[in-house]
Amino acid sequence: MKKLLTAVLLTTTLFTFAQQNLISNVPNRNTTSLNGVWNYIIDPYQTGFYSFHLDQYDKQEKAPKSAFYSNYHAVNKQELVEYDFDKSATITIPGDWNSQVPELKYYEGNVWFKKSFDYNLKDKKRLFLYLGAINYKADVYLNGKKLGTHEGGFTPFNYEVTSIVKPNDNYLVIKVDNTRHKEDVPTVNTDWWNYGGITRDVTLIEEEASFIEDYNIQLKKGNANSISGFIKINNLDIAQNAVSISIPELKINYKGKVGADGILNFEIPTKKISYWSPENPKLYDVTIDFNGQKLTDKIGFRTIATQEDKILLNGKQIFLRGISIHEENAKGGRANSKEDALRLLNWAKELGCNYVRLAHYPHNENIIREADKLGLMVWEEIPVYWTVDFANKNTYQNAQDQLTAAITRDKNRASIIIWSMANETPVSDARNTFIQNLARHTKSLDNTRLISAALLTRHVDGFGVIDDKIGESLDIIAFNQYLGWYGGKLEDAEKNLWKTPYNKPVVVSEFGGDAKAGFHGEKNERWTEEYQEYLYIQNLKMIEKIPHLSGTSPWILVDFRSPKRLLPGIQDGYNRKGLISNEGEKKKAFYIMQDWYTQKKKEQLNYSLGK
Ligand code: GCU
Repeated sequence: MKKLLTAVLLTTTLFTFAQQNLISNVPNRNTTSLNGVWNYIIDPYQTGFYSFHLDQYDKQEKAPKSAFYSNYHAVNKQELVEYDFDKSATITIPGDWNSQVPELKYYEGNVWFKKSFDYNLKDKKRLFLYLGAINYKADVYLNGKKLGTHEGGFTPFNYEVTSIVKPNDNYLVIKVDNTRHKEDVPTVNTDWWNYGGITRDVTLIEEEASFIEDYNIQLKKGNANSISGFIKINNLDIAQNAVSISIPELKINYKGKVGADGILNFEIPTKKISYWSPENPKLYDVTIDFNGQKLTDKIGFRTIATQEDKILLNGKQIFLRGISIHEENAKGGRANSKEDALRLLNWAKELGCNYVRLAHYPHNENIIREADKLGLMVWEEIPVYWTVDFANKNTYQNAQDQLTAAITRDKNRASIIIWSMANETPVSDARNTFIQNLARHTKSLDNTRLISAALLTRHVDGFGVIDDKIGESLDIIAFNQYLGWYGGKLEDAEKNLWKTPYNKPVVVSEFGGDAKAGFHGEKNERWTEEYQEYLYIQNLKMIEKIPHLSGTSPWILVDFRSPKRLLPGIQDGYNRKGLISNEGEKKKAFYIMQDWYTQKKKEQLNYSLGK
C-alpha cells in the first residue's frame, strides 16, 4: 500500500501542472510579457537533466542541485556546483539560437533558458504561463517544479502556475531540444532550417477564478445572416453564469447563460454585415462580458465555400492570387514580430496577392492578425511534410494536437480560409488514413473553412494527372509541380496538359525555380535571374490551361535558409527560389508574376451564388 501511495504522490508531485486547455486571444488579455534578455546554457550531453547514470532528475522526488531547473547557486566556497545561469551568456527571447549565436548556427541539441521575474498575484486571481511556440521539444519548470513537456515547434501551449508563483525571484527554466526524430512532426528531413529555441512570445496571463477561456464567434456555416459559435468558461461558478456578446456596429448585445459544462452555444441573427474580403477587410469590435470581465477582439465575418470547381468568398467566385511564404525575418532567423509580418505581407501585396500560403507549419499569431487587417486570405498548414511516420499512432496524435492548437488559436480570424493537412506526402494506405483522419478532425472543430493539402502528381500518357486518393477528403485540390527546375523542358511548356478526376477547385500550391539575385546570363543558364524569369513565363502559359484552376501560390516569396542547399557562391545554405532575395532584392521573375496577377485581377469572374 505504501508503495502505491508513494507512486501516486510522486506522479501528483511531478505532474501537478498538466498542460491546460489552450487560452485564446492572448493579445487582448491582462498579460505580462516575459520577452527580453534570458540566460542560456548549451547542454549537448543533457548534464542538467540526467545523472551520470542517466537517471532523469525530474523523476526524482526532490530536485538535486545539479538539475539545471533548480537554478542553484553555491552557498559557500566548498560547495560543488558546475553551472550558474546568472553568470551564463544571454540571448533575446523570442528568437532562435541559430541566428543569434554564431557557434549555434547548425546546433541541434539541448539548450536551457532561464528568466527571473517578480509577480505580485492578488488574492483569488489565477496566473497562467503561455508559450507562443518552442521548437521542438520543451521541458518547462517554474521555481524548480515541472510544469510539463510539450512537443511541436509551431503551436502555443500554456500551464497554470497560480499555486507556485511567488512575489519575488521566480525562476522560469525551459529546456529546449531541437533534435530531429523520425517519429516527430515534421520528421528528420525538411527543406528549411531547424531553428531551435523559444521562437515566439512568453507571456503571463492573469485571470479571475472563473474566466473566458475560449470562444468562437463567426458566421454560421451556410447562413451569412447568422453569427454563431460558443463561449467557454474555465472553472464556471454556475451561480454566476451570465455572459454577453456585444458588437456595437451591428447593434448586437446578446445575453446568454453558460451551461453547467461551462459552454454557451449561441446563434445571433443579424443583417447588414459588411463582409470581410481582400477589398474590404472589415473587422468588427467585439466584446465578451462575463461577470464584469470584458474581453475584446476584432473579428471579420465572411463565408468561404466551394461550388463544384469554384471557390466562393461571400458567395462570389474568386481566384487566389497567392505566394508561398516561410516564417523567416530579415536577419535570416525565425520571424515573429508585427514588423516581420508586415515586411512579408506588404511584399505579397506589392506582388498583387489577395492570398498567402503560410508554409509549412502554423506561423506566429502576429502575421495572421496582420493578414486580417490587410485583407490577405491565408492557407495555414501543419508540418506533416514529406515522409512523416504515418503508421505511428504517437505521430498521428502529435499532428492532430498541432492542428487542434492552430485551430483553437486562429479560428476567429477571417483571413484564414484553408487548413492544410500536409505537403508532398508519399502515397500509402497508412498515409491516406492519417490524412483522412486529420481532415475529419478538422471538420469536427471547424466546419466552415476549406480543407486542402499540397499533393504530388503523376505523368500518364503525356498528361500531368492530379488524382491522389486523399483528394476525396479535400475541398481544394492543390498540387506542387516544378516544370523546368526538377524536370521537363520549358520550351515545351504549352504542350504540357493536365487533368484531374475531381470536379473541385484546383490550386497550384508550388511552382518556381532558383535564381541568385544579381547573377545574370542567358535564359538557358540555370541559377540566373533570366532563367527564373523564363521559367515563370513558360510555367504561367501552362498553368493558364489547367482545368478548374482557382489559384496559384508560387514557391516562394523570399530566399530562405536550408541545410540542403549547398552550392557554393550560389546557394550557400539558402534555397534561392525566392522572387525576392534574403537581402530584399526583387528578381526579374517578381515582375513577371506581378504582371500576371495584374491581368488576373482584371478578369471578371461572374459566377455568384443565387445569380
Ligand atoms: C518542395 C517543398 C518545398 C521545397 C521546394 C523546393 O515542393 O514543398 O518545401 O522548398 O519544393 O524544392 O525548393
